[in-house]
Amino acid sequence: MSDVSPLFESYTFRSGVTVRNRLVLAPMTTWSAEPDGSVSPAELEYIARRSSGVGLGLTAVGYVTTGGKGFHGQFGAEHDGRLESLKSLAHVIKSEGARAVLQIFHAGHQAPPELVNHDVTSASDVPPPSRPGRPNDVQVRALTSEEVESIVLDFGQATRRAIEAGFDGVEIHGANGYLIQQFVSGHSNRRTDDWGGSLERRLRFPLAIIDEVRRVVASHAQGPFLVGYRFSPEEPHEQGLTMHDTFGLIDALRDKELDYYSVNRSGWDITDSVCVVRPQW
Ligand SMILES: Cc1cc2nc3c(=O)[nH]c(=O)nc-3n(C[C@H](O)[C@H](O)[C@H](O)COP(=O)(O)O)c2cc1C
Repeated sequence: MSDVSPLFESYTFRSGVTVRNRLVLAPMTTWSAEPDGSVSPAELEYIARRSSGVGLGLTAVGYVTTGGKGFHGQFGAEHDGRLESLKSLAHVIKSEGARAVLQIFHAGHQAPPELVNHDVTSASDVPPPSRPGRPNDVQVRALTSEEVESIVLDFGQATRRAIEAGFDGVEIHGANGYLIQQFVSGHSNRRTDDWGGSLERRLRFPLAIIDEVRRVVASHAQGPFLVGYRFSPEEPHEQGLTMHDTFGLIDALRDKELDYYSVNRSGWDITDSVCVVRPQW
């Protein structure tokens, strides 16, 4: 049997955040938030029990703006009224000895219409892939360039709230077909402005978000604060993401000097994931 003892050694990320071991609690949506979008006692109990042995505790994904809510029972990080709710989440993870990381996203065209006032938005007006339980006639509206810029800032503000709530980091959720991936994918991004077209242009949205998140960290964090990024490498549909696109994304991410990259393949025949720290490429 191979030696797994290094898994139980501490590790210091590029940002200076140190974890007691290399075990990570995967981000897992529990659909258990209060109806008003705040974290519930059930979510706190769930995450406390699972944070007790790990080095890094990832929360379920929270939305950065009301138009980006992706699930019933999802908690939000979209305004300052959420601070107490976010503080309680960070607190229970840290009380168990783990570092606490808030995962943040915008659901884009995967948002259930009834959760976003029937204004489902994405990079373009391409509907989401059909899925059991989802209406197959979802009307999707392409975000204006002003809205795109505003969402970039929303990721920064959610990061500021994570800092103020006591988290040790944020993970930008660019995987699993949500808005960030919708911009990178040639299938869902048919824009002809600066945010669409060539791969270089389709990558502008995630890279702008990373820059804004890092700017907020530099100006608000009092100590080490990590930033991770999650992506999915391929899509099954016509003009969907290919490994060629993903290698372009990885090249661009390399220059951003983040703490880790988390690769998650999900959605059609298999779901699996790997977390890459200290990237060497
Ligand atoms: C019920 C459920 C909820 C999940 N919620 C999230 C989530 O909020 N954010 C996320 O990035 N991944 C989410 N995932 C994906 C998991 O984090 C994980 O990557 C996946 O289950 C594969 O894990 P494995 O590689 O250890 O098998 C979810 C998966 C499941 C089954």
